[in-house]
Amino acid sequence: MNTEATPSVVTTTRLGRVLLVTINHPPVNALSVDVRRGLLAAVQEADADASVAAVLIVGAGRAFIAGADIREFGKPSMAPSLPEVCSRLEACRKPVVVAIHGPALGGGLEVALSAHYRLAMPDARLGLPEVLLGLLPGAGGTQRAPRLMGVKPALEMMLSGRHQGAGEALTLGLVDRLGEGPDVLAAGLAYAGELVASGAGVRPTREADAALADKPASQAALDALKADTAKKTAGLFSPLKIIEAVQGALDLPFDEAVALERQLFLQCLDSPQRAGLIHAFFAEREVAKSPETRNATPRAIDSVGVIGGGTMGAGIAVAVLNAGLPVTMVERDDAALARGRANVEKVYDGIVAKGRMTPEVRAAVMARFSGSTSYDALARADLVIEAVFEEMGVKKAVFAELDRVCKPGAVLATNTSYLDIDEIAASVSRPQDVVGLHFFSPAHIMKLLEIVVPAQVSADVVATAFELAKKLKKVPVRAGVCDGFIGNRMLAVYRATADHMLEDGASPYQIDAAAREFGYPMGPFQVADLAGGDIGWATRKRKAATRDPEARYVQIADRLCERGWFGQKTGRGYYLYPKGARVGIPDDEVLAIIEAERQRAGTTPRPFSNQDIMRRYLAAMVNEGARVVAEGIALRPLDVDVTLVHGYGFPRFRGGPMKYADTVGLPTILADIQAFAREDPLFWQPAPLLLQLIEEGRDFDSLNKP
Ligand code: 3HC
Ligand code: NAI
Repeated sequence: MNTEATPSVVTTTRLGRVLLVTINHPPVNALSVDVRRGLLAAVQEADADASVAAVLIVGAGRAFIAGADIREFGKPSMAPSLPEVCSRLEACRKPVVVAIHGPALGGGLEVALSAHYRLAMPDARLGLPEVLLGLLPGAGGTQRAPRLMGVKPALEMMLSGRHQGAGEALTLGLVDRLGEGPDVLAAGLAYAGELVASGAGVRPTREADAALADKPASQAALDALKADTAKKTAGLFSPLKIIEAVQGALDLPFDEAVALERQLFLQCLDSPQRAGLIHAFFAEREVAKSPETRNATPRAIDSVGVIGGGTMGAGIAVAVLNAGLPVTMVERDDAALARGRANVEKVYDGIVAKGRMTPEVRAAVMARFSGSTSYDALARADLVIEAVFEEMGVKKAVFAELDRVCKPGAVLATNTSYLDIDEIAASVSRPQDVVGLHFFSPAHIMKLLEIVVPAQVSADVVATAFELAKKLKKVPVRAGVCDGFIGNRMLAVYRATADHMLEDGASPYQIDAAAREFGYPMGPFQVADLAGGDIGWATRKRKAATRDPEARYVQIADRLCERGWFGQKTGRGYYLYPKGARVGIPDDEVLAIIEAERQRAGTTPRPFSNQDIMRRYLAAMVNEGARVVAEGIALRPLDVDVTLVHGYGFPRFRGGPMKYADTVGLPTILADIQAFAREDPLFWQPAPLLLQLIEEGRDFDSLNKP
């Protein structure tokens, strides 16, 4: 018999006494309403048919089930709900077996936990990552996972969103058996057949109690994680809700605890954080699709050259080595090359010291690294990334060498932060091969990679850059050429407001605190101290001649730099770092310098609330973001969002600055800009795109749609 449940994303097939239920809902079998209906119908079918002895659920394609259908959140709910489906599965009178391959995440794992027997294939990835979307496992996961694994591992999994591999899942009690071979269906059928043959009965997870038997120990683990979470995830809504739901597993009968979980899930679903995080989730995937990746085939990248072994060159080399590619580093002379190599080795030494890499693996990675003081070593490189001093003359000299030695078709990339890449491209005989790859420091850690697209670059070079980003596990954002591209251009503007506020009465410590309260890991002055004040100082000096004399210019940073206070590396900047401390302490001398600058500038200090501070900071950011979009420097507002989240510490739970602007409402942002313009009309000119969207009653998100 071969019946098809309605609708066809879930099919049922009889194979002997086993009812095979296949979910076929590409790309990742998300639990849309049709899948939920299909699963419910399949259980009913199994219960109604006396000749069915067991049910086997598998996912077709590349996943078991990636979770609830995220696209349904925020829309009216449609029956049956996932908790209903899970309860019904668990209540099935025939043993229900799941055979998991690929992702079994969120609601997908909750379906598996509601089954009676679980088998995982070697490529299975199990997890409850709802926290990353501002949610909690809302289909019994907060109740069933602790019953199988115990409170501590279950909570750790839910609070981190981390995926477990099959072996770990077996050890933790999340699955019963590992499958062998490449075929999930064969492994699942063998297991189900074995269970039928042995007369195995149903085994509802709700009745499992061994892992929770020692209540005081469970409570102690929960209390410890609660204290830790309150400290580490300040500002986030769902982590403490997850803990509250798990407390229910300890205190309440199963059905009451599931009802509590549902109530807490709905609170999370309604939260702006959920909307922000889900915006970020889709935006992070959307940025990877550029016009060029749709229409061009990337060039092969099997070997990479890096020029410069300083902060960025070394970090880029590590990022590329980590992706399994060989790297050739070119430096000016032997001493600089030795420093460059040492910079790379230092990163791996740190990783080995933390126990995250064995010395043998480190040696194998470093075997792919070579260095040279001659450009000829780059003759066979498929891609070269230049990370030398930020000076046009130096860059052009390097590109002339690359033009001379590199093979035809090699991609020539620059990591410049601000310089005109069109000018660099125009200086070589092959401008079609020149692209910007703007990494962020530390380059082996920061996720953002701005792919800067000069006018003459060919589409397949841009596609190659996106392909490289994928290999390096970076989040790529396409950016146009301008001073600072997307991120640094916006930074220059919102950082200027912070400087204005310093001179007008706020302290750097208050501004940093306000930014942290908003959700930034660090405030702008902490970041300046970390990055080193000398870089910005050099840029300001370079631009001094072309600065609009009418524009407000705050000199506080210059006063600190003149004293050699460049931040952490010099022991003081906006903060003091006694004895190499990594966290700074406020410095009265800095406050005195600020006070003197206020007097020099003739400003009368006034108080700012933390809210006042963030309103200015964000209004400046959004306004410049609107210009960046209108000029096509960013393809869409979501590209700005991803840039600021992954390169500049903007809190991901707010989705990004443009999403944030939509959340508070564009008229509110405009009203702020207009109010601030009364003090400084030159700085606070509303972006034309902002005015236009308001007039048309639209928001930034309307520009994200294709
Ligand atoms: N719902 C809807 N669409 C989803 C989805 C989901 N749960 N998961 C992935 N997709 C979509 C992606 O948006 C993407 O669409 P696109 O091709 O149009 O851009 C496509 O599926 C492929 O996704 P990826 O590009 O991310 O593919 P990868 O192979 O790199 O990764 C994955 C696959 C690991 C499953 C990853 O997509 C992922 O982490 N998905 C989200 C998993 C998740 O968070 N699940 C929990 C959902 S919340 C929940 O279940 C609530 C419940 O407790 C009630
Ligand atoms: P750095 O000063 O730490 O390193 C530059 C390295 O380039 C030095 O080791 C120097 O010896 C080498 N070099 C100079 N001229 C060379 C040449 N002709 N041939 C070979 N090597 C040469 O500088 P950093 O910070 O690494 O910056 C490099 C580039 O990356 C700059 O364009 C900068 O704007 C950009 N960048 C810097 C970021 C940062 O946070 N430091 C972030 C993103 C981009």
